[in-house]
Amino acid sequence: MAAPSDIQRQHWDQTYIDKPGMFGEEPSSAARTAAALFEQEGMTSILELGGGHGRDTMYFARQGFQVTVFDYSEHGVTEIVRRARAIGYEHAVTAARHDVREPLPVPDASVDACYSHMLFCMALSTIEIEALMGEVWRVLRPGGLHVYSLRNTSDPHYGVGTHHGEDRYETGGYQVHFFDRPKVERLAQRFALLDIETFDEGTLPRRLFRVTLRKSGGER
Ligand SMILES: C[S@@+](CC[C@H](N)C(=O)[O-])C[C@H]1O[C@@H](n2cnc3c(N)ncnc32)[C@H](O)[C@@H]1O
Repeated sequence: MAAPSDIQRQHWDQTYIDKPGMFGEEPSSAARTAAALFEQEGMTSILELGGGHGRDTMYFARQGFQVTVFDYSEHGVTEIVRRARAIGYEHAVTAARHDVREPLPVPDASVDACYSHMLFCMALSTIEIEALMGEVWRVLRPGGLHVYSLRNTSDPHYGVGTHHGEDRYETGGYQVHFFDRPKVERLAQRFALLDIETFDEGTLPRRLFRVTLRKSGGER
């Protein structure tokens, strides 16, 4: 039997076996907004966390960024690699299986930007999320940006289904950690908090925050 911490990974793996294009072919609005910001700042390298089947990864690659992407689902990563080859952008995408509860296998101060869409609201405890935030800070170069999204407490699934402690609820086998604004502000830790925007995605709709943080230093 799988350890509790592995059940969610297996669920995501099965999702990508059953629906390799679960989130659709088009990039998310979060990725479009982030790419415009990164481009405006002259950034070239992006570390993407929880890339899923790569809808946003392919967009970043096509926009001219060099993307390193991690996801703990083997089938998600396989799909990203397949898609990058299919569109002729394998030179721009490095995809690897990695669980973000472990330290990121990335050197200190080596990436311009870190991006994730709906990764920080996965089955992670607050302690694990704080540790990941510290890892993102470590790998970003001074002046680097961290743009991430997470589902907020206005989401229709907040408080629904099986409660897993903190603000974590499971519906349809997917566990989600929901956030309110004060918690997002606390999570900023050593970063400068530039922006918290609300937006919706899908038909549910998922209700999200898109958060923009900057690692201080390296001012232009
Ligand atoms: C809601 S999906 C979003 C996927 C993608 N960002 C998108 O929007 O298309 C969250 C992704 O995070 C991955 N994930 C969840 N927990 C993870 C962990 N601890 N380490 C790495 N990836 C994780 C899942 O496998 C899944 O692909």
